[in-house]
Amino acid sequence: VRAAVIFGGRSAEHEVSCRSAASVFRFLDRSRYEVTPIRIARDGRWQVGVDTGPETADTIVSGASHPDDGRSPLGSITDAMEALKAVDVAFPVLHGPYGEDGTVQALLELAGVPYVGSGVLASAASMDKEFTKKIVAAEGIAVADGVVLRENDGDDIGPEDRARLGLPVFVKPSRSGSSVGVSRVDDWADLPRAVRHAREHDTKVLVEVAVVGREVDLAVLQSPDGSVEVGPALEINLKSEEGFFDFDAKYTSGLVEFRIPAELDPAHLELLSDAARRSFEALGCAGLLRVDFFLAEVDGQAVPVLNEVNTLPGFTELSQFPQMWRAAGVEYPELLDRLFTTALA
Ligand code: DAL
Ligand code: MG
Repeated sequence: VRAAVIFGGRSAEHEVSCRSAASVFRFLDRSRYEVTPIRIARDGRWQVGVDTGPETADTIVSGASHPDDGRSPLGSITDAMEALKAVDVAFPVLHGPYGEDGTVQALLELAGVPYVGSGVLASAASMDKEFTKKIVAAEGIAVADGVVLRENDGDDIGPEDRARLGLPVFVKPSRSGSSVGVSRVDDWADLPRAVRHAREHDTKVLVEVAVVGREVDLAVLQSPDGSVEVGPALEINLKSEEGFFDFDAKYTSGLVEFRIPAELDPAHLELLSDAARRSFEALGCAGLLRVDFFLAEVDGQAVPVLNEVNTLPGFTELSQFPQMWRAAGVEYPELLDRLFTTALA
């Protein structure tokens, strides 16, 4: 199988994508896959590299694997399209806008290249927290109450919204990932600054109630026959009482502990798994999805509150999605194999 692995990208998660791709290059079975690495630089230029084995992500970033002269001149999207025409399947290992949001997926559709993961609409809707919430809420899944501040809506919310949401609130760019641009606000006086910070990443900002509950992720994987499986639940435990699962906690080792499988009441696990599967279906996803919940308590009942979804979740071997499947007995190389096989089915 000739497989293109696309990584990097224009979003604030460029570096995270490079780390995800490094694991993909490390574990992809070269006896079955002939790999074409394609990097999207931070400035949006595309570079087609040569597979040099497990360290491919590093060599293409440094330019060492460039086929011509090793000086890594960045090419154009046209060069990349030529390379894509020659492969059987592509894996956009890209996080955030211009990669996980349907843009690259549209390019692959136009080029006629099958690819791992969700299509254009599901990727776009899942990248945008406003639309994700609207779609899953229509399916009867609970989401955090909040206010949407669009481009011309200013940087504050009114007294009624303040009273309803209460403090603290979380302020988020609607389309971002890895908690980039997200802040927790404990004092209304700090809200405008938090909104302006989020607007550095997106014109549209969400101000959301802080959901109290255990933080539990679920991994959805689609099989080549189209059926959908939900993996063991993962609970995120922050080592510190302060703060939240922000960028530093996500990418600094030792700040967080994942418990897989999460110790959950079987009835609660069933609620979470069911909500994860229904989210995948309601959003029209394909291939894979990580669904992040808070397990809240409402009137004495456990309620999974969907926080967000990730159509291309972090994919290092230590990231949640591969770890959850590992706990289910699906090792990383086999997980990759399943994703490619489903994309080709
Ligand atoms: N957006 C990051 C990569 C994640 O969800 O894991
Ligand atoms: Mg995310």
